[in-house]
Amino acid sequence: MNYLQGKDIQLVKFTERYITADYIGWLNDSEVNRYLGAERMPVSRDDVNIPDSDETILLAIISNHTDTPKYIGTISLHYIDWIDRKGEVGYMIGSKEHWGKGVATEAVGLITNYALNRLNHNKISAGVIEGNTGSIKVLKKNGYKQYAVAVQDYYLDGEYLDTLRFYRLSEWKI
Ligand SMILES: CC(C)(COP(=O)(O)OP(=O)(O)OC[C@H]1O[C@@H](n2cnc3c(N)ncnc32)[C@H](O)[C@@H]1OP(=O)(O)O)[C@@H](O)C(=O)NCCC(=O)NCCS
Repeated sequence: MNYLQGKDIQLVKFTERYITADYIGWLNDSEVNRYLGAERMPVSRDDVNIPDSDETILLAIISNHTDTPKYIGTISLHYIDWIDRKGEVGYMIGSKEHWGKGVATEAVGLITNYALNRLNHNKISAGVIEGNTGSIKVLKKNGYKQYAVAVQDYYLDGEYLDTLRFYRLSEWKI
């Protein structure tokens, strides 16, 4: 899949052209990566790999909020299992001026709809570190429900935080 069109955003297949200085900056921005775990260490251009398997779909998020389309973040469907028909969603709005404008809600809606209705997945999961209030809202607004807590899962600022686990099933099973 190369392209998903939403109302205010488009999702476009992530290629070399999206490994920009802004992108590396987002990965190294302590406000952006606070709850992203894997990116808590300094990241350089050489650390970035474009996924090359049928287990991961990585997409750039392009905002159409202004006349000029702007690359503002990424979203992925990963850990795709084609036998159990499931995957896991992850997302990062790197451009902080675009926070709170409904971008993540729309992006998660688009990729969830694509996975459940076009890939015929049965279940999409997501994990959110406690305290990431915006991300929890994004999932709930897209029909995700919490099913578990991974206790003391993530070390941040001198304390262990829980990971909240969410899932969304295909429509006919809700
Ligand atoms: C968390 C994040 C995904 C939210 O994206 P966003 O595009 O700003 O979210 P939305 O605009 O769709 O907001 C959805 C809801 O969450 C609220 N919200 C967003 N950020 C919030 C925050 N920091 N604190 C409290 N609420 C917040 C919005 O006001 C909105 O609420 P509403 O529906 O009641 O109006 C974004 O800030 C981000 O990418 N952060 C860095 C990476 C990250 O944490 N990714 C998620 C990992 S699980």
